Amino acid sequence: MQAFKKIALCAFIFFGLTGQTPSTHDFQNLTVVEHPLIKHKLTIMRNKKTKSRAFSRLLHEISLLMTYEVTRNLPTKDLLVETPVAQAVGSKLSGRIVIVPILRAGLGMSKGLEEIMPHAKRGHIGLARDPITKQPIEYLFKIPKNKEGQIYIVVDPMLATGGSAVYAVKKMIDSGIAPTQIIFMSLVAAPEGVEKFQEQLPTVPIFTAALDEKLNEKAYIVPGLGDAGDRVFGTE
Ligand code: PRP
Ligand code: URA
Repeated sequence: MQAFKKIALCAFIFFGLTGQTPSTHDFQNLTVVEHPLIKHKLTIMRNKKTKSRAFSRLLHEISLLMTYEVTRNLPTKDLLVETPVAQAVGSKLSGRIVIVPILRAGLGMSKGLEEIMPHAKRGHIGLARDPITKQPIEYLFKIPKNKEGQIYIVVDPMLATGGSAVYAVKKMIDSGIAPTQIIFMSLVAAPEGVEKFQEQLPTVPIFTAALDEKLNEKAYIVPGLGDAGDRVFGTE
């Protein structure tokens, strides 16, 4: 039985790699944050047997790990500091950070960012995807007033059709925020969603932990992890 499982896994990986996998897509502004710990934790999250509490904890842990990459290019400025021994040239972030989860599932991913950047401001965008049309329906939009140099990190674990992410980011741009001030952070993305996002918002960078295969007929990500909001909040 063990040997059979190994053969099945090898075949799955082999055919996956030689077929039309997402890695063959050429997405310019997409960074897939690859790390053994992230892959390990995401695999447990994907498992349908993983319960809500563990799912939420893993999402939080992955967001902590991803924050390192997502914030890599934040602008900084030099700062002189007196150490107990001498003067040193240090650096500080030059703009305020605003963390903007897309509700509900984004809340499960934004805590990691908040933990590492406790001085960040917070915004919230409430969207629910209509089960029939798959279009996002807005129920909340509260974003701190725009200030020069402020960077907005928009967080939503699932980038499926891209409808919710594009809606949220476009509404922020309509409110006066420049595309160059926005970063989008997700956990699992579908090629269809990345394509739509990059067509409409070509200069906004996307970070994700995994680029999956496709969407199914219900616009769920395949293989994905199911409904992230339901799994975070135990409302399955
Ligand atoms: C999920 C997910 C995204 C959206 C992705 O939210 O968290 O916001 O769907 O799908 P899309 O890319 O096709 O727009 P949902 O609307 O189910 O709300 P929830 O987080 O409250 O469960
Ligand atoms: N929303 C989710 O939570 N999961 C999907 O796979 C697609 C949309």
